[in-house]
Amino acid sequence: MPSETTTPMLRSLTDGGIRTILADNPGRLNAYTRDMWESLPKLVREAEADPEVRVIVLRGAGTKAFSAGADISEFEGNRTGAEARRYDEINHEAFEAVGRATKPTIAMVYGYCFGGGCELAMCCDMRWVSDDAVFSIPAAKLSIGYNPRWIRPMLSVVSAAKAKEMLFTGRRYGAREAQAMGIANAVVASADLEAETRKVALEMAANARLSIRAAKEAVDEFAMNPENPDFARLDRFVEACFESEDYAEGRRAFMEKRKPAFRGR
Ligand code: COA
Repeated sequence: MPSETTTPMLRSLTDGGIRTILADNPGRLNAYTRDMWESLPKLVREAEADPEVRVIVLRGAGTKAFSAGADISEFEGNRTGAEARRYDEINHEAFEAVGRATKPTIAMVYGYCFGGGCELAMCCDMRWVSDDAVFSIPAAKLSIGYNPRWIRPMLSVVSAAKAKEMLFTGRRYGAREAQAMGIANAVVASADLEAETRKVALEMAANARLSIRAAKEAVDEFAMNPENPDFARLDRFVEACFESEDYAEGRRAFMEKRKPAFRGR
């Protein structure tokens, strides 16, 4: 497919309207290099622009790790001194690209989900998690100053008390604990994770895109701007639903007792 990009360690694959972005740095538990952070926004933009893509799934290659975070082996060269700020900017652009995607995003998490990997997963709309997954933000163990901009996505997933606990202790949380904290939407056996994630992705892909967009914009607006949400903007997304061909199709399909064939407009 022409819209897909392949960089050596970050690949896009599409199947049945689901775009998977796969981090592949196997010798380092799919840790993200600076190049990978830099490439990620482009891959997300491509997924956004491709009308065939209905849902975006992020994952790591294999079943050992979603990602062990930023590639620490590069830090000496590009995350010290003045370079540290630039690194953070690049890293932040990657999180923003995922966090601001208008299509549904799912982190499919096998194994280790650490540091920047954990943040990336929290920037997704939801997380489908294998029962052997382990989450941790060990920034305090490396004396990394955690960028305050990254706390907001965290706080849309876990409580302030849990965010503090995660950041102050750098502790590791298993899949069930992560589910109790709100990180994991679902925990499934590792062998079933791909099928279960695909199932939920297809469920969303079959629904009306504009309805999902309106809901996503509203949930995100309340997280970003709880005191003064822009209802006028949110109302426009709802109006777009009522004016859409899909709404007419949804009504017709209901009356004709068949599945609707939505076209995303
Ligand atoms: N950056 C670079 N390399 C990493 C990495 C990272 N974030 N995480 C793991 N690796 C490398 C290890 O150095 C090791 O390489 P080696 O085989 O050449 O020695 C390889 O990946 C396997 O990791 P290892 O530590 O042997 O696996 P483990 O199962 O014993 O432990 C972790 C897994 C995730 C607990 C451990 O690797 C770890 O703590 N990683 C760092 C996580 C982190 O602090 N991330 C935040 C970065 S901001």
